[in-house]
Amino acid sequence: MEDFFAKELEALRARSLDRYLREITGAQEPEVEIGGRRLINFSSNDYLGLANDPRLREAATAAIEEFGVGAGASRLISGNLSPHLRLERALAKWKETEAALCFSSGYAAALGTIPALVGKDDVVVLDKLCHASLIDGARLSGAVLRIFPHNHMGKLENHLEWARREHPGKRVLIVTESVFSMDGDRAPLHEVIELKRQFGALLMLDEAHAVGVIGPNGRGLAAAENVDAEVDVQMGTLSKALGASGGYICGSGALVEWLTNRARSFIYSTAPSPAIAAAAIAAVDFVASPEGEQRRLLLRERIRLMQDLLPHAELDEGQSATSSAIFPWIVGDEQATLNVATALESEGFLVPAIRYPTVAKGTARLRIAVTAAHQEAQIRGLCETIKQRVW
Ligand SMILES: Cc1ncc(COP(=O)(O)O)c(C=O)c1O
Repeated sequence: MEDFFAKELEALRARSLDRYLREITGAQEPEVEIGGRRLINFSSNDYLGLANDPRLREAATAAIEEFGVGAGASRLISGNLSPHLRLERALAKWKETEAALCFSSGYAAALGTIPALVGKDDVVVLDKLCHASLIDGARLSGAVLRIFPHNHMGKLENHLEWARREHPGKRVLIVTESVFSMDGDRAPLHEVIELKRQFGALLMLDEAHAVGVIGPNGRGLAAAENVDAEVDVQMGTLSKALGASGGYICGSGALVEWLTNRARSFIYSTAPSPAIAAAAIAAVDFVASPEGEQRRLLLRERIRLMQDLLPHAELDEGQSATSSAIFPWIVGDEQATLNVATALESEGFLVPAIRYPTVAKGTARLRIAVTAAHQEAQIRGLCETIKQRVW
């Protein structure tokens, strides 16, 4: 067995696709310490700078005082503590849905939800750039999978026509993201919804990179475009702009009751720590408050600065037009991308090299993520370094 691992790992290294863990010795901040060096962190999804916010810390600490650290069992056994219920009520109120259900991660939310919605002979139609959690959930469901090229509405329509013809009377689920995790661009939601209506399909929308960042009260892209009521299954994560961890599904009361009965990653997993649920409540309260709106405005300023300063040759086409916090700088070759990341690190910047299988082969990239917590000077410093091409 050891031989097998050694050989496979060597093969990964030869293709510049090996990964390893690095220790961060402190909280998530715009500056982090790795291996004794301070680096300016452009790798975090903590878009609003909440991960180390005193309000979240205090809420977590107070919950530990009252409920202890562990939940002890799954929600359906004896782990259903008050902070979990309060969080779900807060999420449903914020997202303006009948109900919400929380999972221990966004990954678990996708993995539990899709197989609860569709099964053998049903059809799941996914955007090619959907996150691994959505793909894995779709695979696990046993439904027939169809993939459409990124944001290609003509191809989505073809798949829906095919599903109607070949799987008459079966359930069809469209799965896409609102802001795409590795490209930062947006789904054409109005068109997706038009097609969903036309073909009587269900729509599951992952707003992982949009909630907190976009829309009224940070409710996400569907709310910003006033189509949230048309999204059957609103997925999101508490782990990015909300600064805590966990995933959620918002939707109808019936959907949430069904998932409570059928989502295996919910049923067969110990409830998240009450501390993390309490921190997430504080995050939802913040995001929905006027102060949350101010923080979003600050984030938008930082995004604009990055758009203005980052050499445009490095930017993916769509990105300069949109306003997500994610700036993909596509280099292509895996090793070349690693070299750029290493060079940036030697200049004091932490920017992750994203490679296959997270993105398609040959589209390796630096994924620059800007947050409201970055100082202007930090953004200027990164862009200047990139301009000077230190590698
Ligand atoms: C689009 C998308 N969906 C889901 C997830 C999973 O969320 P979590 O990190 O909470 O498991 C992520 C993050 O990794 C993501 O980028």
